[in-house]
Amino acid sequence: MLLRSRSLKSALLAAALCAGMTVSATAHTEAPAGGPKPEHFVKYRQQVFNLIRWNFGPMAATVKGQAPYDSARFATQAARVAALAPMVAEGFHPSTKGAKKTEAKDDIYTNTAEFNRLAKDLETASANLARVAQTGKMDQIKPAFMATGKACGACHDKFKTEDHHD
Ligand code: HEC
Repeated sequence: MLLRSRSLKSALLAAALCAGMTVSATAHTEAPAGGPKPEHFVKYRQQVFNLIRWNFGPMAATVKGQAPYDSARFATQAARVAALAPMVAEGFHPSTKGAKKTEAKDDIYTNTAEFNRLAKDLETASANLARVAQTGKMDQIKPAFMATGKACGACHDKFKTEDHHD
């Protein structure tokens, strides 16, 4: 996204600083003093994943032929997943290592490059799915959907435990 207005840009930056937010998108940045606590990072990322699932689940049912195909609805859901994917990595801050109520493996913080690569794979696959969903052609949508689902599974296999729900 390009911000053309310099004043808008500085206003947004000021707003981000006031809110004590981290603006970085990768998993290896330091938490600023007064920034989110570990449990807030955990909650944030689980909420991002729940929003992803909310949209991705019905898409899976459609692709499997278990739910009718509504092209506009499907395209909206695909666009949402593509918008949410770049928000994933930000939730995996090293301060959450050893946190309770998480299914995230601590390897994420020793193998951060690999984790970020898998997060990037999801971004790429879901952006492609959102683009292809615009065509309304199920023969193109299906492989793009499968590739996105594969990106979920690749990361879960490596970095997510099966301890509680899901
Ligand atoms: C880069 C790694 C990665 C990718 C890609 C990824 N996930 Fe996850 N996912 C995780 C990790 C790690 C957790 C555990 C988070 C926690 O409990 O703190 C998780 C948790 C979840 C949860 C449970 C959330 C909760 O309430 O605890 C759902 C649902 C989920 N993922 C769905 C998906 C779907 C659907 C996709 C693909 C569209 C996806 N994930 C892609 C790593 C990933």
